[in-house]
Amino acid sequence: MPGIRAGLVVSAVVAVSLTVGVLVNAHDSNSTAQGLAAWEQVYSVLISPRCINCHTATNYPQQGDDRHRHVANVVRGPEGKGVPGLNCASCHQETNADSTGVPGGHNWHLAPLEMRWQDTNDRPLSSADVCRQITDRKRNHNLDGPGLLKHHEEEALVKWAWNPGRRPDGAMRTLPPLTHEQFVAATRRWVEAGTPCPQGK
Ligand code: HEC
Ligand code: HEC
Repeated sequence: MPGIRAGLVVSAVVAVSLTVGVLVNAHDSNSTAQGLAAWEQVYSVLISPRCINCHTATNYPQQGDDRHRHVANVVRGPEGKGVPGLNCASCHQETNADSTGVPGGHNWHLAPLEMRWQDTNDRPLSSADVCRQITDRKRNHNLDGPGLLKHHEEEALVKWAWNPGRRPDGAMRTLPPLTHEQFVAATRRWVEAGTPCPQGK
């Protein structure tokens, strides 16, 4: 009875592939869940003052842990570098100037508006919104997952956040909620899971 035998073989194959399918799905949703958990850690750093003060939705940078508007009416300017006579680089040097309290880092300027992580009332965007921004290659200077990881590992303005220097009153600036090492490790877990983003708003 070749028909029955073929039928048995087919159902055995179906059974095996169903089992494999379930295992693969279980593995996928597991690593997606881990990736999403890692993303929440990444997000907690992105919306902390040392980062988000440069990723504004307005025409000015912010300062301090209360994220108030930058002194001297400093404005974004056409390329995020200020305007003639009030360029970022006229005050911000390559390194922190602790005697005056002006922070510094290579190519100090404001992130472009398409990389904003706040609304125009200075409220941080949701985890889902920031995740969509940072993974949108039309809005992130065309960075893929490994490109984002490298940015978090090596970019001077990112690393500055863990060496932010003294404020004009002499107090040390506060640090992001994770160490740089933990932040890079969380980014790596998120990237390895395929940069999943939370659903919804
Ligand atoms: C007139 C000098 C001056 C200019 C021009 C200037 N800054 Fe600043 N900036 C300062 C000083 C001083 C501080 C420190 C203020 C403080 O910590 O209270 C500061 C602090 C900051 C901080 C705060 C860091 C933090 O996390 O608290 C950011 C961000 C910043 N500036 C961005 C910019 C950008 C971007 C530009 C150009 C668009 C710019 N600044 C132009 C003087 C200047
Ligand atoms: C002094 C301003 C400044 C600070 C502080 C800063 N950034 Fe940025 N960030 C920028 C600018 C400017 C760009 C755009 C890249 C460019 O033009 O070179 C950018 C781009 C990025 C991007 C590219 C992808 C995207 O779509 O947003 C990431 C990721 C990023 N920043 C992460 C961080 C993190 C994490 C921190 C804090 C640990 C941080 N930034 C602090 C100015 C800043």
